[in-house]
Amino acid sequence: MQVLKLGVNIDHVATLREARYRGQKYGEPCPVEAALTCEAAGAHGITAHLREDRRHIQDADVRALRRQISTRLNFEMAIAPEIVRFALKIKPDIVCLVPEKRQEITTEGGLEVAKQLTAIKRVCSRMSKASIAVSLFINPDVTQIEAAAKTGAQFIELHTGSYAEHYSNARLRKRELNRLIVAATHAHSLGLRVNAGHGLDYNNLSTLHVVPYLEELNIGHSIISRSTQIGLTKAVKEMLGLMKGYRS
Ligand code: PXP
Repeated sequence: MQVLKLGVNIDHVATLREARYRGQKYGEPCPVEAALTCEAAGAHGITAHLREDRRHIQDADVRALRRQISTRLNFEMAIAPEIVRFALKIKPDIVCLVPEKRQEITTEGGLEVAKQLTAIKRVCSRMSKASIAVSLFINPDVTQIEAAAKTGAQFIELHTGSYAEHYSNARLRKRELNRLIVAATHAHSLGLRVNAGHGLDYNNLSTLHVVPYLEELNIGHSIISRSTQIGLTKAVKEMLGLMKGYRS
């Protein structure tokens, strides 16, 4: 039996750095160091999203990730021509195509594959020629899955945002889980490999085990958030240690 793999999305490490060091060539926390820590802890891959507005991850971060990580680089991207060119130069192991809206706080909906079939097919074909695998981030809807199967992409990533959002309501949780089960089963029957992600956390994760055919989960916000919680004790103690020698 295959283990369920974890791809850690490190965008929010860069979000924190950009809050203080925007436009600088240095700053903390460093997303590449964070990625190496995630790998050392057993993560199977690192995910980073280079947004067109460069609000968190920067071009240099992706180049450094490509050079330094030893697991898989999953490069999240919109199908904007500038970003497609960048991906073809960097050659991540896999790209995950996502919709991108300037005003959104995070990636909100899934990709409308059916409405952009020609453009997505073209990107898939260019990636395939460069030996880069493609995943499409889509809502767990039959229309999107059937369209995804026509693009040449090897993977889909099922958007678990709605499942996460409705998790606390038993009836809606059941409805969303069922959508994910149906979607994963249908995608598998069409030859697509299935990943999932968005909004997954320490509370809602175990119920997701009923969804079949999952290969990898991409998780960001909850892991980065938790690291600030469980790492605070050590951080405060280290600072107090540095203050100890003071004599007025
Ligand atoms: N997968 C995709 C395609 C995403 O866009 C995101 C959010 O950047 C994630 C997974 C991770 O979502 P979260 O940060 O809520 O764990």
